[in-house]
Amino acid sequence: MTVELSCDVCGVHFRNPFILSSATPTKTAQNIARGIEAGWAGAVMKTLVPLEYARIYPRPRFKIYWLKDQGAYPEIIPRSLSITDIEEGSHLTPEDYVRELDEAKRLVGNEGVIIGSITAADIETWERYIELINGSRADMVELNFSCPYAGEPGTGKKGERLGWTLMYMAEEVIRLAKKRCSIPFSPKISSQTGEVDEWAIKFVAAGSPCLTLSHRISVLDIDIETARPTPFGCIVGFGGPYLVGYSLKWIAKAAPKVNVPIMACMGMFDWTDAIKYVMVGASTIQSCSAVMVQGYEVVKPWIAMVSRFMQEHGYNSMKEMRGLALPHIIPPTMVERGNEGVYAVVDSAKCTGCGICRRCCFYFAIEIKQAKAAVDLRRCDGCGLCREVCPEDAVSIKKLADRDLYTRPDSKPYHRHYQLKAGPI
Ligand SMILES: Cc1cc2nc3c(=O)[nH]c(=O)nc-3n(C[C@H](O)[C@H](O)[C@H](O)COP(=O)(O)O)c2cc1C
Ligand code: SF4
Ligand code: SF4
Repeated sequence: MTVELSCDVCGVHFRNPFILSSATPTKTAQNIARGIEAGWAGAVMKTLVPLEYARIYPRPRFKIYWLKDQGAYPEIIPRSLSITDIEEGSHLTPEDYVRELDEAKRLVGNEGVIIGSITAADIETWERYIELINGSRADMVELNFSCPYAGEPGTGKKGERLGWTLMYMAEEVIRLAKKRCSIPFSPKISSQTGEVDEWAIKFVAAGSPCLTLSHRISVLDIDIETARPTPFGCIVGFGGPYLVGYSLKWIAKAAPKVNVPIMACMGMFDWTDAIKYVMVGASTIQSCSAVMVQGYEVVKPWIAMVSRFMQEHGYNSMKEMRGLALPHIIPPTMVERGNEGVYAVVDSAKCTGCGICRRCCFYFAIEIKQAKAAVDLRRCDGCGLCREVCPEDAVSIKKLADRDLYTRPDSKPYHRHYQLKAGPI
């Protein structure tokens, strides 16, 4: 069975759902061409910025948190990594940026979708950049309102220091783009404002035919030897695979409320993430950090594995998987609680008596007896923390009886008022 990985976004055809997001791997036409050759369906070129300082970078300028800290590198790339950098915008001037976009299209032809990316702090510059992109060979353009570095430095406007000042002018820019942009455009929404779904609704109401959700957050780190901010002395962007759930959440919240395609961005790490993104409503998936530590070729196994998953599960197309998870997301009030008769059970053949479970049992239900973990059912709450920390996978959580064997502090009989309650997710 062959599966259909392609999808159309605003009439633009992508041969698979994987797009290089706007960043270092898409700085130049040559970079983009290498990516498309490796198998990416499209690339968002690094953002054209009007601020001259943001076109010039420190040397060195990258710090990758937690990549090498966990022992298994380079065989295993940890999901917790985050790339911090000072590379706010494209190094190119507006005229060279357009030339580079054109060159990228010339190099990739119909194999890849070329997406420009622009940002500005005043409406005149937005207008100028939209006209520039109109005159280029780009297939689409992303409107970047969400750089985690200061969006509009020195204005003192809300969100400035966290890099989302520009969200406050976005609706005006989207109205302008709707009138003036000759190709499909997609606003890249900041994830830092909270309520990304509310912004998504506003942006679509203003005329946006597509959305990119979303962008990195900004953080601070301190070097304790020098008592100074590190690595660059300022608040910096933070993103990467460990934030996938944050991004999935916003897409799941936004997708049912808007009727435009969503390009997922942030947290893509392995092929399963792509399936998850599609299942919460995304049409395509952008990626940066995974590419920056593994190279362009990382897309090859993703494509192969997504195809295999679809074949094995009988999905013919991405469209068939899109949004499948949405009806099943419930509010916390609907989660079944107080289930009775559930306890930890230790497989003594696997247990080494290391005692890790004992130190993490906050009900004091575990003792090490004759070099094996022993669970006291009078104390065990069935919380499952011991199973999660056991390095030998020696613990399972089982339903041993229909009712609790002993009265438990948060049992249903104690909280008689408890009822499942519907509500917003
Ligand atoms: C070094 C670097 C440079 C970036 N430059 C840009 C940029 O110019 N424009 C933009 O919209 N996003 C930029 N980003 C953000 C990425 O496009 C992406 O939104 C973010 O890294 C989250 O995706 P990820 O988790 O796959 O890395 C940059 C990210 C990194 C790490
Ligand atoms: S953590 Fe696992 S292996 Fe260690 S004592 Fe507990 S059950 Fe045994
Ligand atoms: S399930 Fe929870 S309460 Fe029971 S032994 Fe494990 S950690 Fe302790």
